[in-house]
Amino acid sequence: MEKTYKVKIESYDVNGYGVCHIDKKVVFVEKALKDEEVIIEITNEHKKYAFAKIVKILAKSSHRQAEACPYARYCGGCDFMHMDYETECEIKQNKVKQTLKEFNYELLDIIKNDNLYNYRNKIMVPVRKDEEGDIIYGFYQKMSHDVIPMDKCLVSNELSNNIVSLICRYLSVHNVSIYNETANTGLFKEVMVRNTSLNEYMVVLVTTADFEFDALIKLLTEEFKEIKSIYLNINSEKTNVVLSNNYKLLYGEKKVKEKILDNYYLVSPATFLQVNHNQCERLYSKAFEFAGLDKNMTVIDAYCGMGSITLNLARKAKFVYGIEEVPQAIDDANENMKLNGISNASFICGKCEDKIREIVGKEHIDLIVVDPPRKGCDQAFLDTVIKMGIPKIVYISCNVATLARDIKILESNGYKLDKAEPVDLFSLTNNIETVCLLVKK
Ligand SMILES: C[S@@+](CC[C@H](N)C(=O)[O-])C[C@H]1O[C@@H](n2cnc3c(N)ncnc32)[C@H](O)[C@@H]1O
Repeated sequence: MEKTYKVKIESYDVNGYGVCHIDKKVVFVEKALKDEEVIIEITNEHKKYAFAKIVKILAKSSHRQAEACPYARYCGGCDFMHMDYETECEIKQNKVKQTLKEFNYELLDIIKNDNLYNYRNKIMVPVRKDEEGDIIYGFYQKMSHDVIPMDKCLVSNELSNNIVSLICRYLSVHNVSIYNETANTGLFKEVMVRNTSLNEYMVVLVTTADFEFDALIKLLTEEFKEIKSIYLNINSEKTNVVLSNNYKLLYGEKKVKEKILDNYYLVSPATFLQVNHNQCERLYSKAFEFAGLDKNMTVIDAYCGMGSITLNLARKAKFVYGIEEVPQAIDDANENMKLNGISNASFICGKCEDKIREIVGKEHIDLIVVDPPRKGCDQAFLDTVIKMGIPKIVYISCNVATLARDIKILESNGYKLDKAEPVDLFSLTNNIETVCLLVKK
């Protein structure tokens, strides 16, 4: 192939790249919009396809817009800032349609997000030093571990941005040792801030060793009354996993409080919480609508976290079993059950693929809700669900590729995908949440 070409963009791929063809080769063009005429440069060539970047836009799409964030061109966080929201939703809807195209089912319209900015309730920011020795913080560049320095992230909560900024000013003024990833030396690695819709904030300072942060804690809690909890997380490993299991409470409460639909939840730092509160409520409501709950139903909520789905199910069903592998999340779930005066639920700690077997033969299950991580469900878990012959499955997925794989297994074993609905939980990024109903034929 030549290095540069003048092309017209024909369509989008599932990740939102512009697609065109050159000499029968499919070319995926980063940040190019449908119908645009562009000069592209080939960046990566394979036998049947290639990747390219735009060198010049000759004819611009009316759906192109100026990127609201000055870091959008470099930062690996947002993928869709260069297009209007209508186009973003069209790409996401199409991603689900294409990935599930082999099934015969009803695809409902994407549930849109009303707040494209400041929607994230969790920010995780690496802190490093630049070549001049100044402290920088920001997100990683795509496919790299280079931190793109920023002052705030537009999709994250405003106050959380301010908390991170104050922490980094403190580290700079007090000359606190900063982590160097290449050499695996230095102390301060990362900051996590989590906030809830009840305006409670939790801060986690990630370091390689124990350290006294009394002056920083005083500064933070005087400046931000909303901070209810501060932890130190000591992680001396050179690893991509940011948080270790070694938490030390430095200030305030062990957990922050959240409200999701009809229940209150106390959330530990290691517990999973959906990052977009408003869309999470819409997602769960859709899942409950698909479930068609009534007071005679016995339900399993697999991959249940702190019971955010379980306890809302319990209000409408006879009994709910929640299964989750993270012990702190199960601890939260049990506490949350008491907090909400719920007694018709029970939480089991362990891997779903193992623990579901404890329920087999014990009683009839009318419905199972599954909400696994990106890698989807374990095959042994699906085998047990199939063996149990549970009449209805509501599957919530944050990765439509593994969702398709799991639906295929279920469809080959007596289930049918009835309907699916994408929910935009992660606006401006190419991630999409999908909720599905499967029924036993
Ligand atoms: C996408 S989160 C969903 C949590 C919860 N349903 C919610 O909406 O807040 C997936 C959860 O599955 C848990 N998990 C991952 N693999 C698991 C496994 N094999 N068995 C049980 N739980 C698992 C994670 O710890 C996490 O809490």
